[in-house]
Amino acid sequence: MARVICVASGKGGTGKTTISANLGVALAKMGRETIVMDADITLANLELILGMEGLPVTLQNVLAGEADVSEAIYEGPGGVKIVPAGISLEGLRKANPDRLEEVLMALLDMAEFIILDAPAGLEKSAIVALAASDEFLLVVNPEIASITDALKTKYIAEKLGARMLGIVVNRVTKLSVEIAKKEIEAILDGKVLAVIPEDPEVRKAAAFGQPVVIRNPKCPASKAILELAGKIAGVEVKVEEKGGGFRRLLSIFRRR
Ligand SMILES: Nc1ncnc2c1ncn2[C@@H]1O[C@H](COP(=O)(O)OP(=O)(O)OP(=O)(O)O)[C@@H](O)[C@H]1O
Ligand SMILES: [Mg+2]
Repeated sequence: MARVICVASGKGGTGKTTISANLGVALAKMGRETIVMDADITLANLELILGMEGLPVTLQNVLAGEADVSEAIYEGPGGVKIVPAGISLEGLRKANPDRLEEVLMALLDMAEFIILDAPAGLEKSAIVALAASDEFLLVVNPEIASITDALKTKYIAEKLGARMLGIVVNRVTKLSVEIAKKEIEAILDGKVLAVIPEDPEVRKAAAFGQPVVIRNPKCPASKAILELAGKIAGVEVKVEEKGGGFRRLLSIFRRR
């Protein structure tokens, strides 16, 4: 039975799609059957950052009742399975977001983890994704607007019965105006599971349609995402700049 984990935020652009894709690839590389589903059916991006656009059957077709979800599962990088949302405007008009939970039910026996890349905000498709999940990761940037918006999402998600797995602080720089991890934990009343630095490798990888954890597993953002995957999978992954930990992790990657 899969754990359904929604990657959510309040504000847009905090890094949900980047984290969903790379976390999914990292879990798959650790040998865990993982499906990443693009639940952002209005502004689908997952297939773009993975270089998988133009697939024939997508979640749009499934939510429109035109196809079975098994037809919309594709093999992605590192062995992760991807359910793309589809980018056609006509397809979007026909898709019924209320079917998402029923679609997920059909996937529960197919994987250990189902990662849902949620839309920003609290419109219907975001609510449906949170309601269909057991757990959620709250992705914030270290700015006050991002954190206050995330608080609203957390409140609604918990009302819908999802449990907060933890907070992911993304795009962290060393600027003194940024809100510190301790303050974020206090405001959002939860634990920060990962601090992902601002890293130019992330955008480079996206521009090439490749997950950064595969394109450059040693860069700082990849290391933070790989450690996050280890925490979620319950695998001790000690990623260190020097010493054996990171080398050990890389060897896991090479073996697969
Ligand atoms: N750690 C990082 N370092 C540098 N750039 C990043 C980082 N994380 C994300 N980005 C960039 O930030 C932009 C937004 O990321 P992404 O699309 O993952 O956010 P999102 O939360 O899914 O956005 P939306 O709310 O629109 O769905 C992208 O250009 C991405 O490459
Ligand atoms: Mg997104």
